[in-house]
Amino acid sequence: MTKKTERTVILAYSGGLDTSVMLHWLKHDQGCTVVAYCADVGQAEDFAALREKAFGSGAAEVYIEDLRGTFVRDFAWMALKAGAVYEGTYLLGTALARPVIAAGQIALARQLGAATVAHGATGKGNDQLRFELSYYALAPDIQVIAPWREWDLKGRSELIKYCQKHHIPTTASIEKPYSIDHNLMHCSYEGGILEDPWNEPPADMFRLTKSPADGPEQGLDMIIGFRSGEPVSIEGVELAPIAMLERLNGLAGEHGIGRVDLVENRAVGLKSRGIYESPGMTVLHIAHQTLETITLDREVQRLKASLAQKFAEMIYNGFWYSPENVLLRTLVDETQQFVTGEVRVRLYRGNVIVTGRRSPYALYNQQLASFETDHHYDQRDSAGFIKLQALRLRTLAARLPDANAARTTKSMPAGSLAVSEGGAI
Ligand code: ARG
Repeated sequence: MTKKTERTVILAYSGGLDTSVMLHWLKHDQGCTVVAYCADVGQAEDFAALREKAFGSGAAEVYIEDLRGTFVRDFAWMALKAGAVYEGTYLLGTALARPVIAAGQIALARQLGAATVAHGATGKGNDQLRFELSYYALAPDIQVIAPWREWDLKGRSELIKYCQKHHIPTTASIEKPYSIDHNLMHCSYEGGILEDPWNEPPADMFRLTKSPADGPEQGLDMIIGFRSGEPVSIEGVELAPIAMLERLNGLAGEHGIGRVDLVENRAVGLKSRGIYESPGMTVLHIAHQTLETITLDREVQRLKASLAQKFAEMIYNGFWYSPENVLLRTLVDETQQFVTGEVRVRLYRGNVIVTGRRSPYALYNQQLASFETDHHYDQRDSAGFIKLQALRLRTLAARLPDANAARTTKSMPAGSLAVSEGGAI
């Protein structure tokens, strides 16, 4: 490889303050040729302006790539099928976008014969792990530059001064109140005035959702169709993945759905406060889980739920491209074969209220569940079933009748003591 290509860096560029300074710093302080790589994951950006800005900051080349299709199909839908929710509340919108962007960067590095990639994540967050673990998994010999961990600049005000000194175009101001990360899955806000977890976020911060209080009085009923665990239609009208998520974001956003305000445990060991709005994905998670309740076998449902948390942690910690993640994705897909059907939900002022579910593959059997007599379930079978379930409990109780009585009476209602005392089987 020539000297020149070794010094060519593919920078994951967003056009924000940090990556604008990085572009200049890599070129002028580090002597690199910088290729700006902008992945479109649905952040609603003016990409023509972004291209100009990158050239204005010193990029040798600018690549803008639309990765929305793979982001929704292969990442958002997979997390949905898996029921991956970090610490019970965060739907992983940022965590899922990073490996997509990293893969795009690596592909471009290969195409251009560049040996180095760089990203704008700080040394305190999760994104450095997601970018770099993805880079190394996909290109083990890649060189990585993480300017935030290397340069002497400290904080936003120094970055702004750097821009002013070097005439780098920027719209940032020192008092920017918080950091934003937006894509098709969500919009997230953290840092700045949100760092104090007691501070309520300003009402005008939210980009994707109305306040639940401002949702229409009449609410909105909708039927969402799924095929093998993936959402395919709204009100019977088939929609491709990007259109589906865009449409749901719009509709659910109108009804104030999908806001969460939480404190999460970062991979690096600190807690951070974040606000997220994921209108479409919130509706989908609720609808999908509802459909699973009628289409999955009980034990599959439970085993899957226990692995979902693990899967969410892997994604959060940056291990999308890992053998354990591939293994779980295969398992998840296996469970989704019959998760086909429809769920009816009502969107109403921040709530997603499930009002119906149906599937041609339902394991739910109205005849079986009903109190009316039927031929498949003989109520007399229950007697033997209960007796065998009770066998071990009776054996235990018989071993030390007095001690056992003393122990179990703690949780017994008053007055029931006489029954169990010295009771023989
Ligand atoms: N804390 C979230 C995560 O680690 C979001 C990070 C990016 N958000 C932001 N506003 N900068 O996935």
